[in-house]
Amino acid sequence: MKILVINGPNLNMLGIREPDIYGRTTYADLCGLIENHAAETGVQVELYQSNHEGDLVDKIQQAYEKTDGIVINPGAYTHTSVAILDALKAVAIPAVEVHISEVDKREEFRQISYVRLACFATISGRGVNGYLEAMDLLRERIHES
Ligand code: DQA
Repeated sequence: MKILVINGPNLNMLGIREPDIYGRTTYADLCGLIENHAAETGVQVELYQSNHEGDLVDKIQQAYEKTDGIVINPGAYTHTSVAILDALKAVAIPAVEVHISEVDKREEFRQISYVRLACFATISGRGVNGYLEAMDLLRERIHES
């Protein structure tokens, strides 16, 4: 089973950016946590981060017929990107939306998610553990199908 974990803009700044909101775990630490969890659960994982909307769309398209599940934290593009929503719909790969912070309790503009419309679950406000929970949800979902 192959899972692709996609992170959008500014998530490469984890550990530096607004630690009171996003915590002190760096992006490199996060990648390590995800890779360990994948190894423990027998999953093949690919990690991808970009600050560019079109690159995120390209990556989702390239996953077509090559990836069983997608974990995606689109960062700020969550709240604006119809293109990322459409890409997820186009490939129709089971996807889980993740947010480190509890977006639904923050500013009004963060309470809108386009990407959510193409995801079967959303995990928000669970810190970096949310990525691992999303991987578990995907494994269950893929096993069932
Ligand atoms: C975020 C929440 C977004 O609103 C924000 O733009 C991010 C990170 C989160 O993980 O909590 O970049 O997706």
